Amino acid sequence: MSADVRAAIVGLGSYVPQKVLTNQDLERMVDTSDEWITQRTGIKERRVVSEADSTASMGTEAGRRACAAAGVDPADLDLIICATITPETLCPGSACYIQRDLGAAPAAAFDLAAACSGFLYGLAVAARFIESGQFKNCLVVGSETLTRFTDWTDRSSCILFGDGAGAAVLQPTRDPNRGFQYCVMHADGSGWDYIWIPAGGARMPASTETIERRMHFLKMRGRDVYKFAIEKMQWLLADCMAACDLTPDAVDLVVPHQVNIRIIKSATRKLNFPLEKVYVNIDKRGNTSAASIPIALDEAARAGRIGPGSTVLLIAFGAGLTWSGAVVRL
Ligand code: ACO
Repeated sequence: MSADVRAAIVGLGSYVPQKVLTNQDLERMVDTSDEWITQRTGIKERRVVSEADSTASMGTEAGRRACAAAGVDPADLDLIICATITPETLCPGSACYIQRDLGAAPAAAFDLAAACSGFLYGLAVAARFIESGQFKNCLVVGSETLTRFTDWTDRSSCILFGDGAGAAVLQPTRDPNRGFQYCVMHADGSGWDYIWIPAGGARMPASTETIERRMHFLKMRGRDVYKFAIEKMQWLLADCMAACDLTPDAVDLVVPHQVNIRIIKSATRKLNFPLEKVYVNIDKRGNTSAASIPIALDEAARAGRIGPGSTVLLIAFGAGLTWSGAVVRL
């Protein structure tokens, strides 16, 4: 990173739909129980979009709130990145709808598909544009409408997902004690079929057969993903701590991708983080993929758990397979 200019998060915002889907609701839809879901995942309920909402509308609202928190007029944005694997349309990208609805033309706008790591990938990309001096006001949005790609007959995956959006505004700072201290991003495409949506892309366009075979929904190899997640979340946390020479005492909050309470606990326990230093909202939000970290960050800030001067560790893994981490000083 450039020694003199860093990218700092100057505003956060989030939006979740009103409608709540509880584990009890799921008991009436598939062969499952509140007890099984709670024990295996920590999820009690999740938010689900109504007809009125979608990836772009939620992303726009989260972006509007982040701009308001930052005191930035959306018309002054230089760049909008929307991290999503459930885009508004395959073409154009969701970021263009968000840009239109925020009144942010002619800011550059594009989507980034790195699944649950997408928001952290987006932060890293925006930070590089800021450090290079090309852009001053960047909006990174994570927005997902996963429930429209969920197979509600598949009990092993439908219990996990929720909808929502979160966003952050980034600006340059010359204060060495603020902004991004460290970012790491990786991928391993050999795990492409751990989590994927088989049809609807160029490989397998939509047809009567793809619809009949339910190929437009998310498929997941849950056990394999679980093992991968445990290993990578631990590795990310250790890597971020080592890169910035941090001890748990020096970290104010860990904000992990909200994927499964067992995965979160296993990663943080190994590195001696007490649960009070780990932000967890999976019980109320479920897994919202790219939206998970920005929603959690915004909620943590609004709850007063983090604020100016806080050191925050962000870690995520997802489809691809991808994994990413960051150390941020607010
Ligand atoms: N209710 C009741 N029983 C269930 C359910 C359910 N909802 N789902 C599966 N089972 C059963 C299985 O059929 C199996 O039964 P069997 O032993 O008779 O064959 C048993 O429970 C155990 O199944 P496992 O899949 O081994 O259960 P596991 O403990 O691994 O938990 C889970 C499953 C929660 C999915 C876990 O593997 C996990 O969290 N994996 C990671 C998921 C993840 O990270 N996904 C990321 C998604 S990325 C994205 O969002 C894009």
